[in-house]
Amino acid sequence: MSELALQFKNVSFHYENEPGKMPILQNLHLSIKEGEFVSIIGPSGSGKSTLFKLITGLEQPTQGDIFLQNKLAFNRLGEVGYMPQQDLLLPWRTIAENAGLPLEIKGMKKREAHRKVLELLEEFGLKGVEDKFPNELSGGMRQRVSFLRTILSGSRVLLLDEPFSALDAITRLTLQEWLLAQWEKRKETILFITHDVNEALFLSDRIFILTETPTCKLEEVSVPLERPRKLKDLNETKLIGIKEDLINQLRAKVTS
Ligand SMILES: Nc1ncnc2c1ncn2[C@@H]1O[C@H](COP(=O)(O)OP(=O)(O)O)[C@@H](O)[C@H]1O
Ligand SMILES: [Mg+2]
Repeated sequence: MSELALQFKNVSFHYENEPGKMPILQNLHLSIKEGEFVSIIGPSGSGKSTLFKLITGLEQPTQGDIFLQNKLAFNRLGEVGYMPQQDLLLPWRTIAENAGLPLEIKGMKKREAHRKVLELLEEFGLKGVEDKFPNELSGGMRQRVSFLRTILSGSRVLLLDEPFSALDAITRLTLQEWLLAQWEKRKETILFITHDVNEALFLSDRIFILTETPTCKLEEVSVPLERPRKLKDLNETKLIGIKEDLINQLRAKVTS
């Protein structure tokens, strides 16, 4: 039996400052296996980022428990790696200094952190830019720096919140292929928020769909594609029905 990387048991949540305290999650259960790639799709405001805030520990459930690696985890800050939609690189730090930040926070000497970062730059397609500043890089490169920083946090569970949504279509496809290659090599558990159905299908083992508020249950689709995958696999006939289903579920929510 494979290990569970993450588990929600009976989790409910509302924001304290929300008038009426409308729940966003109610009695939600979910289980994610070690090494799985799971995408989460749903319309804006359906609670996707809130789910990530609960997993990182930035917010605590109003009821229920969250488990990491089968252990009840109250203090999850620092246990999971989180990459937001905006890269949040510090403009006054060089690329190497930005990427090495999690190592410095853990107490590693700046010089040692720099050496560690340099070892990985080539693999991340960033060789030669270590002394540049974030505003000198393209959007795609900045997201790779941001991903490198998330990897260097050392966490085995990575939460990526719409990491590619601000990028142009071609850069986005290139980064999807690159992310899959990285994941196949490193075998972290990845949760990936997107509202792009094709992106979710290409990347994931399973897709969770948020369709109702509050979310009591996640609709779930398993992606029937072998790995390693190629972008052209998205044209396989067995995906046509699944794609339509996903789009219909998302559309039903928007028009209702
Ligand atoms: N800090 C907050 N305080 C109060 N309400 C919030 C806060 N953050 C988000 N919300 C509300 O919670 C709901 C879900 O938001 P969010 O998780 O950001 O959705 P998504 O990421 O799916 O777009 C929205 O109605 C949003 O307005
Ligand atoms: Mg969001």
